[in-house]
Amino acid sequence: MKILFLNGPNLNLLGQREPEIYGHTTLADIEANVRERADELKAEIDFRQSNLEGELVGWIQQAKGKFDVIVINAAAYTHTSIALRDAIAATGVPTIEIHLSNVHAREEFRHKSLIAPVCRGQITGFGHKSYILGLEAAIDVKVSK
Ligand code: DQA
Repeated sequence: MKILFLNGPNLNLLGQREPEIYGHTTLADIEANVRERADELKAEIDFRQSNLEGELVGWIQQAKGKFDVIVINAAAYTHTSIALRDAIAATGVPTIEIHLSNVHAREEFRHKSLIAPVCRGQITGFGHKSYILGLEAAIDVKVSK
């Protein structure tokens, strides 16, 4: 079972970035937590971050045949990127959308996710635990495939 975790723009700044919204946990801490839980669940993970839309598109395209499930926090690209949406639809790798904050409880421009219709589901608002819930959902998706 191989799961690809993708993180979009500005998530490299977690820990210092708007901590009242995103908390004090860094992306490295989140990755360590996900790795620990993945070991318990006997899943293999790859964990990546990019500020570049095209790089994320490339990683989604390359996931086909290499990963069973993608878990993505597309950050601001969630709300803007038709390219990410099309890449997810094109590869057909089951994908789970996650967010730290509850995007539906924030500004109106965050209520719309362009990737949601091509994802299996959305986990939003549980802080860094959204990543662990995303991992568990990824394993469920694979098992029930
Ligand atoms: C986010 C929510 C997005 O609206 C925002 O642009 C982010 C982070 C989250 O994890 O809560 O960068 O994806």
